[in-house]
Amino acid sequence: MQNFEQFLLDNLPHSKSIHPTYESALRNMLEAGGKRFRPALLLGVVKAYNPLMIESAYHAAYAIELLHTYSLIHDDLPAMDDSPLRRGHPTLHITYDEVTAILVGDALNTYSFEVLSNAPFSDETKVNLISELAKNGGLNGMVLGQAIDCYFENKPLALEDIKVLHTNKTAKLIATALKMGALIVGRENEADKLYNFGIKLGLLFQIQDDILDVTQSSEEAGKLTNNDEEKNSFVTILGLDEALREANLLADELTKSMQSFDESLRRELSPILTKYINRHKN
Ligand code: IPE
Ligand code: IPE
Ligand code: MG
Ligand code: MG
Ligand code: MG
Repeated sequence: MQNFEQFLLDNLPHSKSIHPTYESALRNMLEAGGKRFRPALLLGVVKAYNPLMIESAYHAAYAIELLHTYSLIHDDLPAMDDSPLRRGHPTLHITYDEVTAILVGDALNTYSFEVLSNAPFSDETKVNLISELAKNGGLNGMVLGQAIDCYFENKPLALEDIKVLHTNKTAKLIATALKMGALIVGRENEADKLYNFGIKLGLLFQIQDDILDVTQSSEEAGKLTNNDEEKNSFVTILGLDEALREANLLADELTKSMQSFDESLRRELSPILTKYINRHKN
């Protein structure tokens, strides 16, 4: 991941103009770091099946991180979750202003597809990757999840609907990180299996995020916590104990499914999966 981080820094968006802060605002949240969970998943799949493609795959891993970073910048806006802290830094609407945060989000969203369109893959692979990222990060994926999340503030949903919300908001992008890895190395057969695994992994990731919202301080999390009271978070709706139980059930299920991965995939993904599958137990 160190090499990926270097790739990301070498390929930060650039824009020289009369605007005094636009370029630094574009780079701010990318440079701030984060777990790089989605890139690590994509790169793990590529490394398992075709390590020679790892450097080409950085382009796709970066594209997904760009789209994810845009989603966080918009998520923190006053109209959405109204958060002053992200990745241990003040959010863009605090450092700059709201207009800047909205436009930087727009720019990173479209830049992610520019990066994919310039990636060193066949045209067919590029179109498939662009389609996957758009489908899962867009109007019937992350954006739909965010729309439901914000519309149903203070309107409690049934557990079934909460799962739909979180599947769209978070799980689809995580699932497609694994799938895009499989598409890059031409493992179409593995792609759907990995996607389905990723949906469960993404759901667990969001349950854990909801748990951490009530168990971590803002300082520990690097973002505003105790901020989900109006949300259909797993903890708000189920309570902490039941949310932990849901997380444990999913964690057990995922740990079992991992055993059916072929050996190279298990070798490459086990370290990161074990770490994140058990994140709520720390
Ligand atoms: C935060 O994602 C938003 C959710 C989908 C829960 P991450 O927890 O991956 O955020 P970063 O990338 O590490 O900042
Ligand atoms: C946001 O979920 C998921 C996104 C699509 C950005 P949250 O609102 O729970 O994420 P955090 O807790 O602010 O990172
Ligand atoms: Mg949110
Ligand atoms: Mg939020
Ligand atoms: Mg959260």
